[in-house]
Amino acid sequence: MIRRTAIFLLILLLPLVVGLLFTYEVINVEFGSLMEDQISVKSQEGPPIPFPEGSVPYKGGAYVARTLTNPYPGDPMSVSRGEELFAIHCALCHGDKGIGGGPVGAYFDPPPPELTPDLLRSRNDAFLFQVLTDGFGRMPRMVENLSVEQRWDVINYLRSLAQE
Ligand code: HEC
Repeated sequence: MIRRTAIFLLILLLPLVVGLLFTYEVINVEFGSLMEDQISVKSQEGPPIPFPEGSVPYKGGAYVARTLTNPYPGDPMSVSRGEELFAIHCALCHGDKGIGGGPVGAYFDPPPPELTPDLLRSRNDAFLFQVLTDGFGRMPRMVENLSVEQRWDVINYLRSLAQE
């Protein structure tokens, strides 16, 4: 008797289970797992949302104000961090201490400029920050490689070179 009931129930349930497979499109439960399904306004979708008042761009390409000055003190810690970063990101083109001879720089014609004390002294903070952010002529942009603080560390290092 139990077996019969079980078989009966199974036969009854089978179309239900099979039927459910077809309701997939009808009973559409949304799983918000796609990146494009988010609350954001794409550039082609009408007016952009204004930035919150008082916000300052932190990352990304930037147009640097000409009056920008280095907000980080050039203390020995910052300079030594900058030296390390320079060895990683710059020396390949500009050479050790920026005076040419980098292995990648050798492929440039004319070669990357020597970052001599005279040249560095004639460039203000805003200019150097702009170069390190958006690149300069044939020099690639560094915005993906160096955070804002790291760019200022490198600039502090360049300033220390300019004093020698
Ligand atoms: C792929 C090679 C390359 C790398 C890496 C590179 N540079 Fe340059 N850099 C150049 C070239 C080439 C120029 C000259 C661009 C031109 O005149 O077209 C330049 C120009 C500059 C200038 C401007 C010089 C001037 O005339 O005022 C500065 C400053 C500078 N680089 C600093 C850096 C620093 C700091 C780093 C590391 C964060 C760096 N560069 C990484 C190739 C490079």
